[in-house]
Amino acid sequence: MSDAKTTTDASGQRGFGVDIGGSGIKGGVVDLASGELLNDRIKYDTPQPSTPEAVAEVVAKIVDEAGWDGPVGITYPGVVREGKILTAANVDQSWIGTDAVELFKKALGGRDVAVLNDADAAAVAEDQFGAAKDSQGTVLLLTFGTGIGSGLLRGGVLVPNTELGHLKIGKHEAEHLASSAAKDREDLSYPDWAARVSTVLEALEAVLWPDVFVVGGGISRKADKWVPLLTCRTPVVPAVLRNTAGIVGAAHAIATGAQP
Ligand code: BGC
Repeated sequence: MSDAKTTTDASGQRGFGVDIGGSGIKGGVVDLASGELLNDRIKYDTPQPSTPEAVAEVVAKIVDEAGWDGPVGITYPGVVREGKILTAANVDQSWIGTDAVELFKKALGGRDVAVLNDADAAAVAEDQFGAAKDSQGTVLLLTFGTGIGSGLLRGGVLVPNTELGHLKIGKHEAEHLASSAAKDREDLSYPDWAARVSTVLEALEAVLWPDVFVVGGGISRKADKWVPLLTCRTPVVPAVLRNTAGIVGAAHAIATGAQP
């Protein structure tokens, strides 16, 4: 990535983020001072199979439709190190080994891009603008969706690629037990699912001692149905940015020159 001065639009006030998920890809222009979206999100289904080329085409379509010609921050639902993809839990396996920065740069006419994990982006956004805004301590954001994503911050500094959704709890990975997809798949009631989420949070707090858990993903919209049932000792707060956190975090990452 090049010099930070070239990473936002001419005013330096706006950025562009794209959030890639297993089922949808969404993007929008972000006000970098407030963390708000400046237009409606543009959203398309994730192509199936979700190969790098097919996904990059959709990303380019979104950026083009928005008429954005500046740099772009992009999230990916797996491990990203120095712009390269190392895992693919919920997307096509051909992502593994892909140089995502090169891929998106090419698809976007050579402009600057930054690529980071989706939950890391959401954690950065909640820390800058949302539920963890004033927290100086250890913040652990977990997103409950197809999988469980994790973003760990201490005093605003991100520890990238924590992948705590893959922690083994008994025989199963945490995300297999307690993602919102698991709730749907097994038709669990909120109390039954909340008990599983508590098991995951209790395992995590025993080793990381966070000051706060921020819980995100679509199911955080119904936080009142399950957050009060959680039994962990650490305070749990619902994410504030909800379905824009990935976009906002990605736009913030490219603007600040962060490429994990
Ligand atoms: C992936 C994580 C991702 C999470 C949420 C997990 O399966 O391994 O990297 O953050 O899903 O998309």
